[in-house]
Amino acid sequence: MSLLDLAPVIPVVVIDDVETAVPLARALVAGGLPVIEVTLRTADALEAIARIAAEVPEAVVGAGTIRTSDDIAACLTAGAKFLVSPGTTPALADAMAASGLPYLPGAATATEVMALAERGLKELKFFPAGPAGGVPYLKALAGPLPDVRFCPTGGIRPATAPDYLALPNVGCVGGTWLTPADALAAGDWGRVEKLAAEAAALR
Ligand code: 3PG
Repeated sequence: MSLLDLAPVIPVVVIDDVETAVPLARALVAGGLPVIEVTLRTADALEAIARIAAEVPEAVVGAGTIRTSDDIAACLTAGAKFLVSPGTTPALADAMAASGLPYLPGAATATEVMALAERGLKELKFFPAGPAGGVPYLKALAGPLPDVRFCPTGGIRPATAPDYLALPNVGCVGGTWLTPADALAAGDWGRVEKLAAEAAALR
């Protein structure tokens, strides 16, 4: 099954304290969002992926902000189940393909989408979705490139997510709104579960 079809929303999480990783993942799964992207933007990210993979078997935990083949090697060791990148160079596309994991390479323009489609890659991250043009931009891409589907992320919020999800070339959306930094700092897992449940009901 495609990564894009597992859940309507992929929470994009930034984990500053590895101790929050497991309760955070449990709250997201309990709310109905099992696919979790942990961004490699913090020192604790890889250990967070490893702990979620080991202790929350219901979650499908992957790694975001992949930029290099070294990132991929570290994520494979940590037990990541999928990879997501903000953009895609030819070298990164080769390394992601060689990883053996499902992955969503990032693209933001028709040319970038076409370069990835030439490689047979037709399920992509659209980033940064809002600043790049949002819903009208994705609608415009669907005309000439109807066979490519996206997970848009970047600037998406509960109010705008349904408009993205209504597009035929959008499989799911991603965002950080499900895991507010203050909720994580306070250990407010009930709030995270509620945000996840609201997002899971979007489609
Ligand atoms: C991403 O990496 O996908 C974005 O940083 C998501 O960020 P936002 O939901 O906070 O805009």
